[in-house]
Amino acid sequence: MEDLKSQVDTENLPRHIAIIMDGNGRWAKQHGKPRVFGHQSGVKSVRETTEAAAELGVEYLTLYAFSTENWNRPKFEVNALMALLVETIRKEVKTLNKNNIRLAAIGDLGRLPEKSQKALKKAIEDTAGNTRMTLVLALNYSAKWEIMNAVKSLASQVESGNLTSEAIDEEVFSNALATRGMPDPELLIRTSGETRISNFLLWQIAYSELYFTPTFWPDFRKDSLYTAILDYQNRERRFGKTSEQVAK
Ligand code: IPE
Ligand code: IPE
Ligand code: MG
Repeated sequence: MEDLKSQVDTENLPRHIAIIMDGNGRWAKQHGKPRVFGHQSGVKSVRETTEAAAELGVEYLTLYAFSTENWNRPKFEVNALMALLVETIRKEVKTLNKNNIRLAAIGDLGRLPEKSQKALKKAIEDTAGNTRMTLVLALNYSAKWEIMNAVKSLASQVESGNLTSEAIDEEVFSNALATRGMPDPELLIRTSGETRISNFLLWQIAYSELYFTPTFWPDFRKDSLYTAILDYQNRERRFGKTSEQVAK
């Protein structure tokens, strides 16, 4: 039990793990508390997961923190989430620097409240020199928004004569996405028992291994991450080939 971590094969780690952190509200309800208490409790899981991933040697950890669709929640909850974001980002910069972790963000960031944008920008700048792992927060993110944005940007480059339509290949398209420069996630985790993608990283997860766990996000700990990685490491990634071709 205690040595789940030592069972992880560090030679076969996902370079990039993406997580849909879900179940805060149901966790709170289960504990007879308001939903916001669930979000607050989820911060500890973010901390633990980030630390565990960095310790193992994962290069990128992307956390889905707020979707474009989440604006449709009650105003009180949206405000509480934004306030929690600012508070957490400010508090965690020290630890990120201590652990040599760089912060990045993907999403329609210009539409976040001014305060959130400022806190985010500062934390990104203050951790820009860190090299052990990149922690990517998906904020006001939706994969359809990201893809539309990429299409618009490529179309305008074609219009202005800086790009030909023939030159658009997978690499060019990937570089027009918010995740440019990052490897695609080999492993996508969703907590809380839901088995859907909810508009997260559609292009990038084309060949990701999907891992669903009933654990609510506030209960997710280092061992939960090791368990997910061990599951991933027991899979055979075939990429269209036969098992015989892959198992050499
Ligand atoms: C995930 O937990 C956090 C965010 C989407 C911001 P939820 O708030 O979706 O929790 P449930 O799904 O209602 O339990
Ligand atoms: C997905 O969770 C978004 C985040 C984790 C930030 P939701 O709880 O919003 O997704 P749905 O509404 O159940 O699909
Ligand atoms: Mg949810």
